[in-house]
Amino acid sequence: MAEKRIGILTSGGDCAGLNAALRAVVHRAIRGYGWRVFGIRDGSLGLMNRPLDVCEFDLGAVSDMLRQGGTVLGTINKGDPFAYPQPDGTTCDRSGEFVAGYKELGLDALVVIGGDGSMRILNRLCKQGGIPMVGIPKTIDNDVAHTDYAIGYMTALTVASEALDRLAPTAASHHRVMILEVMGRDVGHIALSAGIAGGADVILIPEISYSMAGIAARIAEVRHEGRNHALVVVAEGVKTENGQPVTTLHQGGEARYGGIGQYLAERLAETVAAETRVTVLGHVQRGGMPSMQDRLIASAFGVYAVDLIAQGRTDRVVAWQHGQVTDIPLGEVAGVTRAVDPFGTLANTARGLGIYIGDHAV
Ligand code: F6P
Repeated sequence: MAEKRIGILTSGGDCAGLNAALRAVVHRAIRGYGWRVFGIRDGSLGLMNRPLDVCEFDLGAVSDMLRQGGTVLGTINKGDPFAYPQPDGTTCDRSGEFVAGYKELGLDALVVIGGDGSMRILNRLCKQGGIPMVGIPKTIDNDVAHTDYAIGYMTALTVASEALDRLAPTAASHHRVMILEVMGRDVGHIALSAGIAGGADVILIPEISYSMAGIAARIAEVRHEGRNHALVVVAEGVKTENGQPVTTLHQGGEARYGGIGQYLAERLAETVAAETRVTVLGHVQRGGMPSMQDRLIASAFGVYAVDLIAQGRTDRVVAWQHGQVTDIPLGEVAGVTRAVDPFGTLANTARGLGIYIGDHAV
C-alpha cells in the first residue's frame, strides 16, 4: 500500500483517554501500514493557523501516552471555523483556511476525536473540502449516538462514584444529606451510573422530571429504614422544579450548567429536617489518568479507525456496540445526542433498588 499521510486532531472538551487513542492511531499507522502521522494542535485551529501548527509523531513520541490525562494536542470548544469568534464579538467563516491547511500538509485523511458537536462541524468541513474523515467518539457525557461508550466516560464515572464513596462516611458521621452535582451537559449518563454504583438514594437526571415531595419522601423512607443520612446525585443539566435551567456565567458572559445542587439544597431545607451539604465535582471528572476501561476503548477505537482508512471506508465513526468495535456513517452521529433511556436497564435497576429517580420521562 502506498505511503499515506494522516492527520489527527482532538476537538471539544478534553477528557481522559484522548492520548491513549492518539497513541493507538500512531502505532497502527506506523507499525501496520508504514504511514506518517501528523498531529494538529488545538482542534481545527492547527490547520487554520499560518504557519500550520502541527507536529509529526513517531513511536517514541507516543511511548508515555497510554496513561496520560488531557490531550497533548490541545483542544478548543468554541472555535467553529464556520463562525469563528472575533475579538470585536462578531464571527467570520474560516473554513477555507482549514481546507487549505489540510492540502498544504499533503494529508490523505483525517482522524477526528470529538463529541457529537465537533463531529457535526468537522463533517461539514470535510464535506466542503472533500476530506476523507474517520471520527472517534469522546466525551465524559457519553451522549454520542450509536455507541455504548465514548472515550472519557468510564473515567468520569469512576471519579463520580468514588466521590460518593468518600461522601458516604462523612454523611453518616454528621447525619447529613449530601448532594453531589456531576457533569453531563443535557444528559444524565454519569449521574445515573455513578448513583447506582455509589449507592445513592436519589438520582436526578434531565431525562426524568422530579418533585421536591418525591425527594423528601425517599429521604423520609431512608430514615424509616434506620439510616440517618442520605446521598443525592444530580446531573448538572437538571432543571428547577418549574423548568428553569441553572447556569453559571463564565468569562465573556458564557453560560455553563452549574448550581442545581445548591438550588436543591435550599429547597430541601424547607421540606426535610436535615443538614445538607453540596459538592460540585466539576472538571475533576475530566482530568487525571484514564481508567482501564477507557484505555481499552481508546486503544481499540484508534486501531480500528486506522484500519477503516486503510480499507478506504471513510466518513465513518467508530463505535462500541455489544462488546465489539464497529463503525457507523458519520451523518448518523453528527449533531445527534444520545440521552438516557428512562425505561432502559439502568433506570429500571435504580427503581428496583428503591432509588428515587423522578416521576415522568421528560
Ligand atoms: O461536554 C463535556 C463537559 O464537561 C460537560 O459535561 C460540561 O457541561 C462542559 O463540558 C463544561 O465545559 P467547559 O470545560 O467549557 O467548562
